[in-house]
Amino acid sequence: MIAIGSDHAGYQYKEQIKDLLDGLKIPFKDVGPNSTESTDYPDWAHKVAQCITSGECDRGILVCGTGIGMAIVANKHKGVRAAACESVTAARLARQHNDANVLAIGGRIAGWETVIDIVKTFFSTSFDGGRHERRIQKIHSLTNL
Ligand code: RB5
Repeated sequence: MIAIGSDHAGYQYKEQIKDLLDGLKIPFKDVGPNSTESTDYPDWAHKVAQCITSGECDRGILVCGTGIGMAIVANKHKGVRAAACESVTAARLARQHNDANVLAIGGRIAGWETVIDIVKTFFSTSFDGGRHERRIQKIHSLTNL
């Protein structure tokens, strides 16, 4: 299950990504918002991250203006590895090397056709494991500094 959330800057893409996920038969939970009214991105990023830390969802999608603010917020949560991806290559490597479990997208950055490819790539690419497993463990062993 994928948790998806946005702020006002990402709302339109959030709705379009939901249609895309429907088409791909990937189940999701929309944490909001329900309109383009101005809102604060940390509120929604925390909600998506909490869906993951609670075990309710195993992946997340965040959409704000850049993807950056929401990724910063989500990465405060232990066990969340959010990657702001502006390209298909970034999405592929975020999965292969970083085992990213949250995809953050910038509604003011990437064109819709690119977003489609980013989402498809992120959710169809596996973690490479191997040497990257050790590095992932080191991320979380230092989380409480
Ligand atoms: C909202 O204007 C914008 O700051 C937000 O969507 C996001 O880009 C922050 O990182």
